[in-house]
Formats: sequence, structure tokens, C-alpha cells
Amino acid sequence: MVLEFSPDLGPGLYLDACATAPPRPEVLQHMAAVQRTAWGNASSLHAQGLQAAEQLERSRLELAQAFEADRDELIVTSGATESIHLALLGVARCQPPGRLVISAVEHPAVEAAAFRMVERGWQIARWPVDEEGTVRLDQLETLLAPPTRLVSLIWGQSEVGTLQPVERVGEACRAREIPLHVDATQVVSQGRPAWRSLPVDLLSASAHKCGGPKGVGLLLRRRALQERHGPIQAGGGQEGGLRGGTQPVVLMAGMARAISLLEPWVDPQAPEAEPGPSGIGAVQQRRDRLLKQLLNLAPLQLLGAPVQRLPHHIALLAADPKGRPLPGRAVVRALAAEGVAISSGSACASGRDGGSPVLAAMGIAPDWCRSGLRLSLGPWLSEADLNGVAAQVQGALEQVAATTAPP
Ligand SMILES: Cc1ncc(COP(=O)(O)O)c(C=O)c1O
Repeated sequence: MVLEFSPDLGPGLYLDACATAPPRPEVLQHMAAVQRTAWGNASSLHAQGLQAAEQLERSRLELAQAFEADRDELIVTSGATESIHLALLGVARCQPPGRLVISAVEHPAVEAAAFRMVERGWQIARWPVDEEGTVRLDQLETLLAPPTRLVSLIWGQSEVGTLQPVERVGEACRAREIPLHVDATQVVSQGRPAWRSLPVDLLSASAHKCGGPKGVGLLLRRRALQERHGPIQAGGGQEGGLRGGTQPVVLMAGMARAISLLEPWVDPQAPEAEPGPSGIGAVQQRRDRLLKQLLNLAPLQLLGAPVQRLPHHIALLAADPKGRPLPGRAVVRALAAEGVAISSGSACASGRDGGSPVLAAMGIAPDWCRSGLRLSLGPWLSEADLNGVAAQVQGALEQVAATTAPP
């Protein structure tokens, strides 16, 4: 490891990997090298352009190999938000209006893209979830009936950590020739899904959740969808005509390196999911230990699925010693003052005062929908780092309880 490329992790402990992860030293080092030599415009015909184009191709192949995808199945975007818009609106552009099915616990980017589809005459059906945030499979048949023409599902829920049964939904969509898009932004931070064997047609992800740079993401798109999906942003014909704009050679190099450094994605219920000594297995072990301490120490309640969840993710409902709801954002601020960085709900919703729509969809009572806490871990945290966290969380809960009037 080259120390000069180690990121400055700031004061205290960073437990907000789901918002963004610190860049990996290998990524920073690689990007610095690429920035020096491959700064040209990859569409130019001179030596500088060719240098950039060659680097772009190396990164594209590195990424395609990491996902077991073909190089022309990969479209580079500015992040998951754009990938999601390209996935959904790209279908809407090429097909007559029909019904789009999305879960009731999607990221706001999916809600926003779905809203734009409504403007184009599409209907939206929201797939209800159970109390753990898992889509209700008993509704699958009804939801996939005509006029459904597209399904979009968040694979790993950012706020509560629940993993959706993507394989099962994908098989059902395949049987009906309905394209399935998955928002894999949080899953890809924890491992590289094997695209080749995944029954999914479109997959969105973002580099900054997995130790890569911000401002770059990707969409994987099955070749078979080519006739039913098109660009939403025109320009110079880059990315196979699917996304116009000068390609971000350096950001793409960083994304390719960050993703290729990940281990393969392992479903928590798969037999090979036993936590190993390194990588995500180790993060999951630390997560499990911290979660146990938190549930023992404080009047906290786990949110989301207990097993079928993102391996680095803890979601809790904050309560005072009498079991009454506490405002999650006040707990986050109290912990930040102690140097512990966590979040309440997802970072994209943290500016909003209303209760969490995700918690509401899971049937959490309105009084509790502002009480979500999220702790998300990463390989930069050692077991020793985490030793005092449960006690600090309890201290923050007590402090907030002492200054908050009961509802
Ligand atoms: C599940 C999910 N989808 C989409 C996004 C949007 O990603 P980006 O900010 O890279 O566009 C996020 C980011 O928090 C996310 O967690």
C-alpha cells in the first residue's frame, strides 16, 4: 500500500459507507497515473486522443471482466442516478406506454424517473413490501400481468439494508419477456454480481459507494434489449450512441479499479456465505458483533431483514429508555459531536423533515418514521475501532432523550 495515496478519513470513526465510501488508495494512485498520461479527449484522432482512447478501452475491459459482461453491454454514466434514468426512460423512449412496476421502497432516483414516465403516459404500480421491507411475492403474478412492460427493483435497500429476491423476480420477468432493471448501487459496493448468470436486463451502479470516485457510474444492458431501449442524452455518439458526452477517462479508470478490487458478490443465504478472514466476510463479522452489542445495550430495534440484508448494514429505530421514539437526526448530530459519523435514513433523504417513506411502506407507525438510524461499515474499520461504538450510541440516545419532549 502506498501511503501518499491513503485517503484522509477525517476525525473519529466513519460508519456511513452507504452514503459514500472513502476512496481506496489503489484507486487514487491509478487515477493520478491516468490523469498524467491519458488526459486527452478519447474521441480525438491525434496521439493524445489515442492515448486516452486506449486507456478508456483498458478500463472498459477491466470493468466488463469484473462483471463477467461483454464490453458492449457496459454504458458509462455520471452515477447511479443517471444510470437509473437511462435504464427506465430509455425503455419508455422505445416502447409504447404500459405499466412500470417499482417497489414501495425505491431510492428517490427511481421515483423521479418513474414520475417522468407517467408524464409520457405510463402507469406506475408500487409493489408493497412486508414489515422487513421485502417485496410481497404473493403479488408477483398480478403485478406482472399485462400491461406491465418494465419492472425496476432496488436490490439492496439503502435505508434498511434488505436484499430483494432479485433472482426469483428475474426468472418470473424472463418467463413473461418483461425487462427487469435492478438498482444495484448498494449491492455492488459489497461485491461484483456475475452479470452473465443474473436474470436481469439492466443494472445500475455507482463508483463512489465502492471506493471509487464520485461522478461516474455504469449501466449494464443486455444485448437482447437493444431494440427496446435507447439513449436519453444525445451528442457525439459516445458509449455506443447511448450516452453522448466526452468520456471521463480518469473517473472511469478509478471506477474500473475500484470494482475490480471487489470480491464476487455472495448472497447471505448461499452456502458459501460463511464469513471469511478478509474482505466483505470480515466486515460482515464486525457488523454482526456490533449489531449484537447495540441490541443488547440500548432500547433499539433492528429494521429490515435480519439475514437477507447487505453485509455491512445496520438499521435501527432509535428509542428512549421508556421505549418511545427519538428523532434519528438528533441522535446523528449527537454522535457526530462525539466523532462518530452515521446517518438517519439515506443520505439522499437526510435534508427532508418528513418521515421516511421507506419506513412507512414497511408498516412502521408514523410516530416512528423519523427515528431511523443507519450504521454502515467498511474495511477501513477494525474490530478495535468498533469496540466503543455501542456505548457511544447509548450515550447519544440518553442525551437526546434528556432534551426531547416525549411525543
Ligand atoms: C440504492 C441507491 N440508488 C441510487 C443512488 C444514487 O447514486 P448516485 O448518487 O451515485 O447517483 C444511491 C445513492 O445513495 C443509492 O443508495
